Amino acid sequence: MKATVLQLDQVSKKIGKKTLVENISFDVKQGEVFGLLGPNGAGKTTIIRSIVGLINRTTGKVHINGIDIDQDFKGAIKDIGAIIENPEFYMYMSGLDNLKQFARMSRKTVTDEELARIIERVKLTHAIQQKVKTYSLGMRQRLGVAQALLHSPALLILDEPTNGLDPQGMAEFRDLIRELAHSGTSVLISSHLLSEIQQITDRFAIINQGKLTHIESMSDLTLSAHHKYRLVVSDGQKAASLLAQLEPEQLIIDGNTLEIALDAELVPQIAKLLVHSEIDLLEMALHQASLEERFLTLTNGGDTK
Ligand SMILES: Nc1ncnc2c1ncn2[C@@H]1O[C@H](COP(=O)(O)OP(=O)(O)OP(=O)(O)O)[C@@H](O)[C@H]1O
Ligand SMILES: [Mg+2]
Repeated sequence: MKATVLQLDQVSKKIGKKTLVENISFDVKQGEVFGLLGPNGAGKTTIIRSIVGLINRTTGKVHINGIDIDQDFKGAIKDIGAIIENPEFYMYMSGLDNLKQFARMSRKTVTDEELARIIERVKLTHAIQQKVKTYSLGMRQRLGVAQALLHSPALLILDEPTNGLDPQGMAEFRDLIRELAHSGTSVLISSHLLSEIQQITDRFAIINQGKLTHIESMSDLTLSAHHKYRLVVSDGQKAASLLAQLEPEQLIIDGNTLEIALDAELVPQIAKLLVHSEIDLLEMALHQASLEERFLTLTNGGDTK
């Protein structure tokens, strides 16, 4: 069982009569990449701000590595590195001088070797002597990550870090996040981009109008996607009544095209049943549900917990 690095328990934030977020609970394990997925205004930044103490929670508890942030804020926050808004740098100074400046302000002393290792990790070694004003957006984002990593945090928090990056910049960023997680750093990342979350995270929470509606794990998602098949048969009606015997989770008929969702173990039975009743199986394909589809069913399908 992996250690829990971050735990939120029933976190709510109200300003006046307005509820920004309500009863948010989730946890992030060691080495896990956890996503907050939701549209603009859903409450992602509010949740992140309440974790790092940038806003006061109205109710709820936050623990970082088991430390209650209300009991020992400094002790808890030392394990977090965060980029909340776009990181600010001195544009006319080199990347290295910027990092050294931040390192001086850090609670922990950062040796030159550690600094070099962090720069290597974010793949900026080649450009670290250049002025930040010459950096691309992607390079600035990576410099921001380097800054957040200076005090070797257990948890890295990134609020919409890939905003404005081109596909290559996004891919590089994904690789960086994966490497960090692989080496044991936990990452909490927010995004309104479904595809981004799908590619980066192990698990993610869907945030909608201030509420956490679901927590999904990527492996569950791919697993459930593998259980849905699209069939084209010679007699749709007859095939449907036969296949109903298998008690599928879902069976949709559209003429001679069927969509069936069922336990993977039952798949060989489909062909057997059809052949036995002399129904031709003209086509059978795995239906790969995208996260987008899943997101829409979860948020609009009325299935709100
Ligand atoms: N200080 C504030 N006072 C009143 N309302 C606020 C305040 N800060 C945020 N809100 C509101 O709270 C809601 C959630 O905002 P938040 O910034 O957390 O959303 P978000 O999910 O980060 O959105 P985005 O994807 O646009 O960054 C929004 O409706 C926003 O208008
Ligand atoms: Mg935000």
